[in-house]
Amino acid sequence: MIDLEESYPSILNKVNWNFDEVSNSALHSIHPYPAKFIPNIPRALISSLPIPAGSIILDPFCGSGVTLTEAQDAGIESLGVDLNPIACLLSKVKTNPLPTGFLTTAYDIAKDIKSFKGDVYIPAIPNLDHWFKKDVQRMLTLIIDSIGKLENQNLADALRFCVSSIIVKVSNQESDTRYAAINKAFSGNDVLAFFLQKVVRLNEVKRATSNNAESIVLNKDSLTLDQNDLTKPIGLVITSPPYPNAYEYWLYHKYRMWWLGFDPINVKNKEIGARAHYFKKNHQTEVDFILQMNKLFDFFSKNCIKDGFVAFIIGRSKIHGRIIENEKIIKEAGEKFGFVLTDSIERTINPFRKSFNLSHARIKQEYLVVMQKN
Ligand SMILES: C[S@@+](CC[C@H](N)C(=O)[O-])C[C@H]1O[C@@H](n2cnc3c(N)ncnc32)[C@H](O)[C@@H]1O
Repeated sequence: MIDLEESYPSILNKVNWNFDEVSNSALHSIHPYPAKFIPNIPRALISSLPIPAGSIILDPFCGSGVTLTEAQDAGIESLGVDLNPIACLLSKVKTNPLPTGFLTTAYDIAKDIKSFKGDVYIPAIPNLDHWFKKDVQRMLTLIIDSIGKLENQNLADALRFCVSSIIVKVSNQESDTRYAAINKAFSGNDVLAFFLQKVVRLNEVKRATSNNAESIVLNKDSLTLDQNDLTKPIGLVITSPPYPNAYEYWLYHKYRMWWLGFDPINVKNKEIGARAHYFKKNHQTEVDFILQMNKLFDFFSKNCIKDGFVAFIIGRSKIHGRIIENEKIIKEAGEKFGFVLTDSIERTINPFRKSFNLSHARIKQEYLVVMQKN
């Protein structure tokens, strides 16, 4: 183990946290996800911090699973938790080997669909005709129903990942970040072709990656985590939490959830930070965020190994015109539950990270807050 007396604050200060070269991961580019980590961040933390033996890495807001794949690359067991079922689908597929028969099953499904002439029962999804052409609705239903009949759940999830990745593209929605309806000239056959292209791409990329260490993914509200969710104590938390009044992850994935049989409204209600909770009539303020972070740190403090670390990447947000210094809220929550601040580093958010639009708050910096269990 590294001697902390000697090594702090030098270890993390040696890293250029603005990363002149952002690593482009083929695996993380297949399916969009807002506010994804650039892999450099969890990678630098994992390689710099001494993770006590016999412990795991936890990301309680794992999103698209970047912390988990970086933990796997380093050969360290990990646990990812996210409320959003699409996040969990992505994280699971990325951290599990592709089941054998993945490609052939997709081709068999496509062949059966092409020769299918019967009736199709389109699921009851709000506003479906506004967002999806009839022909597209029919094809998505056929693909999703065929996947639903598979016995092997890992195989079904890998195929669902591919459908999920094309849902916005084949809808009338202008783009992942623009919610206007526009006319796109895609037919049902295009939908099937895009699905198969994604299957081939995922197969190519996954064959070139190895899953070196176990990673467990839980679809759960992180505020309800308990000791039984852990197989080993926590050695390192790496996470970027949702900030108050900053984003709506549920909204971004709303139609993906409807199509794959999940309820986005349920996710919305429990989503930390979702802007809808901060509209005046709903009355949430930063005090709610403080209570949420306290709850989380209470769990960390009870389940983190001695000398273990917690690393948060967090930016500021704005509530009714006031800038909220979320990094301070994290530091205070950590200190309240027995963690000591070891590093606090400011980094510049890459303006080309288009997936996370913070323009409403003009936020350009984010903070890396690292604390250690005393
Ligand atoms: C900033 S994103 C994390 C992105 C992630 N670092 C990545 O690389 O993809 C925050 C995540 O918190 C999740 N989230 C929001 N409220 C939650 C809750 N109560 N419990 C668990 N996850 C939650 C959102 O679904 C979203 O995926």
